[in-house]
Amino acid sequence: MEGASEQVKPIMARCKLVDVDGVPLADYFAANWEAKSNFQSHPDDVVLVTYPKSGTTWIQEIVEMVRSDADVEFCKRAPVYNRVPFFDLTPHDSTGIGSGLDLIAELKPPRMMKSHLPYKLLPKSFFENDCKIIYVARNAKDVLVSYFNFERMVQLEPDPGTWEEFLTNYLAGRISYGSWWDHVRGWWDNKEKHRVLYIFFEDMKENLRRELIKVATFLDRDLSEDTIDRIVHHTSFSKMKGNPMTNYETLPSFIMDQSISPFMRKGEVGDWKNHLTVAQNEIFDEVYKKLMAGSSLTFKHEL
Ligand code: PPS
Repeated sequence: MEGASEQVKPIMARCKLVDVDGVPLADYFAANWEAKSNFQSHPDDVVLVTYPKSGTTWIQEIVEMVRSDADVEFCKRAPVYNRVPFFDLTPHDSTGIGSGLDLIAELKPPRMMKSHLPYKLLPKSFFENDCKIIYVARNAKDVLVSYFNFERMVQLEPDPGTWEEFLTNYLAGRISYGSWWDHVRGWWDNKEKHRVLYIFFEDMKENLRRELIKVATFLDRDLSEDTIDRIVHHTSFSKMKGNPMTNYETLPSFIMDQSISPFMRKGEVGDWKNHLTVAQNEIFDEVYKKLMAGSSLTFKHEL
């Protein structure tokens, strides 16, 4: 076409979902599964576990700040996805991103890593070595909105379809990492058997200071008031949105097209009210009630 850009863009195909032990995973998370499930952990490993879009990047940066006594330069040494590698990821060759297992192999203990795996799929070695696990949960409605926008802009993720279609698939657990309900409940029900700190995105929004002290205590770090202040400041939404090492702007647009939706989108509690219609919200609440029945786990949907 006359006047069209000459820029060569790699041909990227949106991936398919693959069934792993009853859980649908995007193919680059399911790939090399045997090596992942047989992964040998180190007792000092710390795993940050979340269902997608629940505050993973936030807790990654917090943990980096906690372990470095709020050394901002230390946290600027590389993008967060290379500092705290993504265990599950075996990227397509065309992306140029390192695999989680390769990046983890390069780290020295104590190694920090992130995973979105449900309880039943996390490699057993982490439990056998009694590794520390920080689980961050976020309310299902805000995760839905965040996930939909993420799937639209990440060009390799499964196609989310329309909002209506994504909502239907989300309620049925037919998306990458499966059912939000299975995920948050699986980790909640099993947290006492292991060294798991289970915290909530909404509590972090409500009082970041209080929640990050919990994280520091769990990691055996005694922080000064000044250090705590600096971590709260550095990990605020606006600071992380403007930080190239946390806002994913270091990834090319053929992977994350942030002109469609920014990675650091709103970071709010209750944005779902701007997206779910009254009828959709009623259907959501019905499904929610059924799938949360009998659980002691509760979420704040607004602050
Ligand atoms: S991912 O892709 O699964 O790792 O995404 P994840 O990091 O779990 O979630 C992204 C959402 O977390 C919000 N976020 C924050 N909110 C408040 N404060 C801080 N510091 C912060 N950092 C990340 C981010 O904006 C995404 O939520 P939405 O609702 O889409 O804005």
